[in-house]
Amino acid sequence: MRKPIIAGNWKLNKTVEEATELVEDIKVKIMDLDKNQMPTVIVSPVFTALKSIADILEHGQGIHLGAQNCYWQDSGAFTGEVSVPMLKDICVTYVIIGHSERRQYFGETDENINLKAKAILNHGLIPIICCGETLEQRESGQTDNVVKNQIIADLKDLTEEQTAKSVIAYEPVWAIGTGKTCESSEANRVIKLIRDTVAEVSGRDAADKIRILYGGSVKPSTIEEQMSQSDIDGALVGGASLKAEDFAQLIKGTMLVRAPK
Ligand code: PGA
Repeated sequence: MRKPIIAGNWKLNKTVEEATELVEDIKVKIMDLDKNQMPTVIVSPVFTALKSIADILEHGQGIHLGAQNCYWQDSGAFTGEVSVPMLKDICVTYVIIGHSERRQYFGETDENINLKAKAILNHGLIPIICCGETLEQRESGQTDNVVKNQIIADLKDLTEEQTAKSVIAYEPVWAIGTGKTCESSEANRVIKLIRDTVAEVSGRDAADKIRILYGGSVKPSTIEEQMSQSDIDGALVGGASLKAEDFAQLIKGTMLVRAPK
């Protein structure tokens, strides 16, 4: 059974003080939950807040630390970048890559995403690889092809073991930050297609193990239905992850339907 994940993507929000306050608040709200039944919980603040949050989480509160990006080289003349060993140094364990905002505004390509995935895995961290179609692509019937091609390119040359350890987030671009959630059954259909694509490139075993999340306007009122689907292993959450109460509700909602066995 794949352990579910609830991952917060805080995007470009929160000063260090605000970020630490939010994480303290989340900690309090999930304090009484049974840690063995909890999904893997991840928070991904901006780079500047990572270290302070790592210090708060130091004694293992069941919350993991994620970064929102990284570079694939370890060090060198790459002004403005942050490398995987640097993230590892401050206890980051997950890195979101290929988010549609990075693809759209910062020219991130599948080739870059693949290099980042390899660097992340080679250093023992876990990539959360985002994929998803735009509204235009969906309306012209290209969803399946777009998502399939992204996944094939993003996972290129990873070993079966590396693929099995990775996390994929299916995030239809038109559902991100719009309040428009993708129908759960449709999200499940695309996620199944992603799993079959993983099976084609890395084998059935890796496909059965890899965790595939849904992202795009996930909120407490949608989580139980989403988590009841056969292939949705959790959620990558933007807006609702910035409110401690909502984020805690997402964790509790997930536990109601998919407590890890
Ligand atoms: P949203 O963002 O939950 O605000 O739609 C999701 C994401 O961008 O990962």
